[in-house]
Formats: sequence, C-alpha cells, structure tokens
Amino acid sequence: DSITADDSGSRDIVQVMKDNNKNYLVLYGSQTGTAEDYAKKFSKELAAKFSLNVMCADVENYDFENLKELSSSTVVSIFVATYGEGEFPDGAVQFEDYLNDLDEGALSNFRYTLFGLGNSTYEFYNGASKKVLKHMQKAEATLIGEHGLGDDGAGTTDEDYLSWKESTFEILKDQLHLSEHEQKFEPSFRMIKLETIDDKVSLGEPSLQYLPAHSLSFNSENIQVGPFDLHQPYLAPIVKTRELMGNDRSCVHSEFDVSGSNIKYTTGDHLGIWPSNADEKVEKFLHAFNLNPDTIFDLTPLDPTIKAPFPTPTTVGAAVRHYLEITGPISRQSFGALIQFAPSPQIKEKLQNLAADKDQFHIEVTSRYFDLADAVLHLSGGVKWETVPWEFFIESIPHLQPRYYSISSSSLSEKQTIHTTAMVESAPNPAGGPNVVGVTTNLLKNIEVQINEKSTDSLDVHFDLKGPRALFSGFKLPVHVRRSAFKLPSNPQTPVIMIGPGTGVAPFRGFIRERVKYLESTENSKLGKHLLFYGSRNVDDFLYKEEWPLYAKKLGNAFEMIVAHSRLEKTRKVYVQDKLAEREQEIIRLLNEGAFLYVCGDAKGMAQGVHTVLVEILARGKSISKEDATEMVKMLKTTGRYQEDVW
Ligand code: 2AM
Repeated sequence: DSITADDSGSRDIVQVMKDNNKNYLVLYGSQTGTAEDYAKKFSKELAAKFSLNVMCADVENYDFENLKELSSSTVVSIFVATYGEGEFPDGAVQFEDYLNDLDEGALSNFRYTLFGLGNSTYEFYNGASKKVLKHMQKAEATLIGEHGLGDDGAGTTDEDYLSWKESTFEILKDQLHLSEHEQKFEPSFRMIKLETIDDKVSLGEPSLQYLPAHSLSFNSENIQVGPFDLHQPYLAPIVKTRELMGNDRSCVHSEFDVSGSNIKYTTGDHLGIWPSNADEKVEKFLHAFNLNPDTIFDLTPLDPTIKAPFPTPTTVGAAVRHYLEITGPISRQSFGALIQFAPSPQIKEKLQNLAADKDQFHIEVTSRYFDLADAVLHLSGGVKWETVPWEFFIESIPHLQPRYYSISSSSLSEKQTIHTTAMVESAPNPAGGPNVVGVTTNLLKNIEVQINEKSTDSLDVHFDLKGPRALFSGFKLPVHVRRSAFKLPSNPQTPVIMIGPGTGVAPFRGFIRERVKYLESTENSKLGKHLLFYGSRNVDDFLYKEEWPLYAKKLGNAFEMIVAHSRLEKTRKVYVQDKLAEREQEIIRLLNEGAFLYVCGDAKGMAQGVHTVLVEILARGKSISKEDATEMVKMLKTTGRYQEDVW
C-alpha cells in the first residue's frame, strides 16, 4: 500500500504541485523528526517572507520518476538526515533508489538547495546529504548556495542552519527575483473550538486527559489494533520496574508486557518509548501563554497538501502534554519566530536584538537551559504572552519524539516482555535554575516509584502525581520496536567480546540471557568464549550486580566478566579499554579464532577510546604498523565483526 500525504491520494509529486498551485518544493527525509522540523520551518518562512506557494513533503509519500518534468522555474529545497552508518533515513530509501538510478545529465534544468543533518562524532558524517550532492552533480542539477551541514555532534545544528539559511535566502531572492515582506504568521490550519467532544475520539481511554497525540486505533472491544510500529505505538503495560543503583543517582530497569500485541523483537533491537511532558512543565507552559487546557478544538488544514499533525478533536491540555516538545531548551530559531507575538513593542525590540546576537543569546538563554516558557517569562519580566495563536504552537514546536533504548532482555528467554535499562537524567542547572531533566527517563523513574509504593494490584491503580506522570489508567506507555543490526553471531561457538560500561551493558545483559537460555534448551550445546568488559564508577552503581554471578554459574567457563571501576581508586581512573589492553594476548587469540566484538555506550569518549586501544593491541600483537592495524579494524567493521551501538 502506498502512503500519501495529500487528500487526493496521489503519489505524483508534479501533479499534486500543479493541482495545488505550488511554485516551490521543499522535500525532507527525516529519521527522528529534526529534518522534518527544519524543513517545515524553512517552508513556512519562505512562504511568509516571499509570498511563495510552498509545498513541503516527506520524500516517503511521493514518487519521483517525473521530477524532471517540474517547471524549470521551480526550486527544490532538500533536507535530509543521516542515520546509522551514513545511511538515508528509513523513509527515504525509495528516494535514494531514485537518486541512484539518475542518468548523467537527467536533471540539467533542475535547481536545488541542500541542507544535511548529521553528527560529526560518527564516521560517515552527513553521509546521506553527501550522497544526494553526488547524485545531483552527476545528473547535472544546479546547486543554489552552499551544501549546508548541520552538526549535532558539535551541538551546532541550529546555528549551522541559521547561517546557511541566511545566505541561501539572499541567493534565492536574487535568482528568483523575490521581494521580501515583513514576516507575518499565517496559519496553515483553521482551528475550530468545540463545546463537547464525541466519545469516539477519546479512543476508548477513560479520561480525556490521557488522550494520546498518536494515531491509535481500537476495535469495538476497546482493544488496540496493530500492526505496531513507528506510525502506531503499542500501549504497553509496565509490569515490573526496579531501581538499579544504590546511591543518589538513579537507573531504572523496566519491563514492558507485549503479549497479545504480536510485537516481535530480536535480542539487540531498540525499544522506542513515547514520552509525555511532566505536569509542572505542562502547567508552566499553559501559564506562560495563558492557555486553557480544557479548550476542545478541531483542526482543518487550509492547504490540501498538509495533514493535521495529530488526531483531533482533542484538548489544548492533551496536545501540550502528549504532542509538543516543550521540555527541551529553546533554539535561537524557534525563539526568533516567536518574537512577533511579544506582549509589548518594548519587549519585542529587546528580544529582537537578543535573537539577532548569537553570543548574547547563548549567555542569556542557552547556557541557562531555558525552555520556551522559561525564556518568555524570564526575559519579559514575568509578563504572560497571551496573544500567541494556538496554531502557531502546533506548527512551530517540534513533535515529541520517541526515545530509543537498547533492549536488555533476550527474545529467546523473554518472548512476551521487553526490558529496558535507563539512566535517569537529572543534572543540576549550571545557572542555578530547575534541574535539567530527561523527559522519558524521569517518567520511567516516576512509574518505578509508583509501582513499588503501590505494589498490590498496581496495574489497575489510577493515580495522580506531581512531576512526570504515567499515561492512561494504570502504567502503560506507548512503545514500538526498532530493528537494529547489533546481533550475536549465529553460531554460538563463535567467541564474543563485549564492551559496555554504564548503561552500555544493556544489550549485553540480553546477549548473555540469550546464551543461558540456549544452553538450557539445547542438548549437547557448546559455547564459544564470551568476554564482557564492564565499567562503572564504583560498586554501588554496578548495574545488575546480583545477576551476573547467576549467569556465570550457568555458563561456566564460557563466560567471563571483567570489571573496571573508574572511581574506586582515588589516584587513578581505570576504564574498560585499560582492561582490554591487559588482555591483549587473549583478544588477539580470540580475534584470530573469528571472534565478534561489540561496543555499546558513550560514542565520543568511550567508543573512540576502545577503538584506539584496539588498534594498539592489534599493532603490537601482530607486529604491524598502526595504519595497517587501523585498516584491519575497519575490515572488522565492514564485515560485521565489530559492531557498535553508541550514542
Ligand atoms: P568516570 O565517570 O569515572 O570518568 C560508566 O559511565 C563508566 O564509564 C564510568 O565508570 C565512567 O567513568 C566511564 N567512562 C567515562 N569516560 C570514559 C571513556 N572515555 N572511556 C571509557 N570509560 C569511560
């Protein structure tokens, strides 16, 4: 079945543009919603500033074979994110095929701009947008302006985008002879306030407050109907949770029941968890913009090429809680767009100056971790912003996205439940404000506390709490499984080397449980050596401390865990890679025997540190040059014998 974005159901992009009198095309390929967010803001600004009829489309929703028939006066702006090893986002695979098949000179009349979103910590930085550039060059299309590169690794995506956009707008203005107007927000939706809400749209859930901002479908018996994926998460009951740390930090083990959902996973996959905002964040937001959470509204798109971003009718309160990303720090771009609604000309002028000054903005807003509500309240002396149209928030605040966690159970031993291991993020605010908190992890922490305080029939308890709250009646959160390539070798006799300090140990708990189950259920089975390098600061943050001896007992000689405590000795840090170096001979021997090596955890420090030490080990152990050892490690990577799950 094909997916289409517009009402007509057509995947013919040229036709849809024609039918809707569009004269500018913005295309995006997005994995986590960031590229989509930038593309939409770019479209909105382009339309408002230059009176263009911009169509903004997800590449997933259209075919491109006839793109060359697009009028030569139409410019196409492409936004593409890079995912994994320099790959295109899942939804952009067909678009990539189209680009791959382009003949030389096929798009010689075509003009485009290009902005890529990537992360320089990873090897194939901005790989997808670089591929777009290469194919476009071959097809002899003309690039307008620079190839923009947003770098999440350096934390500069927003600034990279803003400077790219500024220069690109100048060139577009010049080449397309555009005249510029003062930017004024024109909603893309008509909002209709309703008195009451039809039962049907509460999606079978008991309270409207819990109405999710996802498209969930239920049958007549109120049972949620699949298939469950990124487009429709499953409301999974959390059946068990446990605090894993014995100190003032917190790491939560959670178990999601997926029985009856037909959700399948494989050991090493990821679980996407869909969070919602905490009470205090929701309340602060509603207060700052003087919004009534009980207002019921419906949305009608004014442009047939766009769809309402979430199911309506719903309430303002439900949309803020479940749909809008209001918890994170506000970007200079979003801030700039909001200023047109400032409550007084004085405040407007002051904030316009602030938004135009990158360094000052950093000092006054970014470094203080202000979210949207903090920013407007603090910077305008506590005055509420009552005149921001509700449609503006819907269109310009990014959607809440699922957060991904490495699954820490094994699909062989836990078929019906999925375990996750999440470090609860709550860091003191350097500027002295409220703590900087992770949306999902604090939600999980709260559920942990709730379940363990009300351990009897916890699943039917309806509760109300301050701080992050669980969804729906009982403890359910929307989840979906994302496949990963992080997989054990299929032959259990192949040796395995695992390196996972901190929560990086999560998938290895799954791997080890998998091997335990395998031994228990297979007669005459034999395992290769399984080495696990684990690191924690001390003994009290040693995750799953009491489980490992049990696994060791079951696996016997086939399993060994090597632990590095980094803060046990006052004078010296010991890291996993130090332990790896101590085992040089054995590592070389196991690799010679065909071992698979896995690294999970922190990308910047740890994974790079491990890589460096591995190169040194190979160079010494095999008496080869560092260059040759580096090449060898690269080969291990390309052949899938060196796998990373890092963030
Ligand atoms: P640290 O915080 O004491 O520096 C889990 O977070 C463990 O990973 C901790 O013991 C932490 O040590 C350690 N860690 C931090 N940076 C690391 C790096 N660059 N390489 C390996 N381990 C690291």
